[in-house]
Amino acid sequence: MDDVRKMLRNLSEAAIERGAPLEWFEDLYEVAEKDRNLIPWSKGEPHPFLVDWLNRHSEQKTGTALVVGCGLGEDAVFLAEKGWKVTAFDLSASAIDWVKEMHSNLPVSWKVGDLLNPDPAWIGAFDLVLEVHILQAIPESFRIPASTNLAPLVRQEGLLMCIGRMNQETPIEVDGPPWPLDRSFIRLIGSELDLIDFHSVQYEEEEHLRYRAVWQRS
Ligand SMILES: C[S@@+](CC[C@H](N)C(=O)[O-])C[C@H]1O[C@@H](n2cnc3c(N)ncnc32)[C@H](O)[C@@H]1O
Repeated sequence: MDDVRKMLRNLSEAAIERGAPLEWFEDLYEVAEKDRNLIPWSKGEPHPFLVDWLNRHSEQKTGTALVVGCGLGEDAVFLAEKGWKVTAFDLSASAIDWVKEMHSNLPVSWKVGDLLNPDPAWIGAFDLVLEVHILQAIPESFRIPASTNLAPLVRQEGLLMCIGRMNQETPIEVDGPPWPLDRSFIRLIGSELDLIDFHSVQYEEEEHLRYRAVWQRS
């Protein structure tokens, strides 16, 4: 395990032990003191599965987008530059302060928020709801209730896109985070919507798969 992954697991384990399993995200952003190199998931670019999907669907009209657990905002920035009207939120106040400072020139509405308790005004309000690497980063007892809050945010004809790590048929034991998700769990995330895309890839150097699932509200 590399040093960064070890540090993440230590922070996560310490947060679980003190009874606040999601607090380590804030701890990490705070400790990083705006050094992007210390945020392992921040690659400075939008997720390639998001870029690929939008490239393949040039017919997709822009509209309102909600980026869930936006971190340092790469996906939100990409969507805003493509013409989407973006709201992006994260549990970590330090992440939101940081991203606001980096992208003060962009018309993205950056907010502190919790997927476990989303703003009621967001229900049915978005043409695109995007979740990248959040559900796999939170323990199961939070993941299950958080996952049920995504689909209700999607408006009629709108899309829900989830991107992350997925287990093979036989899951490999991991101490996480991240915890690759079971295919059966992923399918449940959008069960009130129509599944229109399920893409998965196995990279040579990884034991799990990477997935993108897209649902639409008909
Ligand atoms: C692994 S990072 C991924 C960040 C970003 N989506 C990306 O791909 O770079 C997980 C992010 O989810 C945020 N997060 C965790 N639990 C959350 C929750 N319940 N509601 C909103 N954001 C949450 C964390 O603060 C962190 O920024």
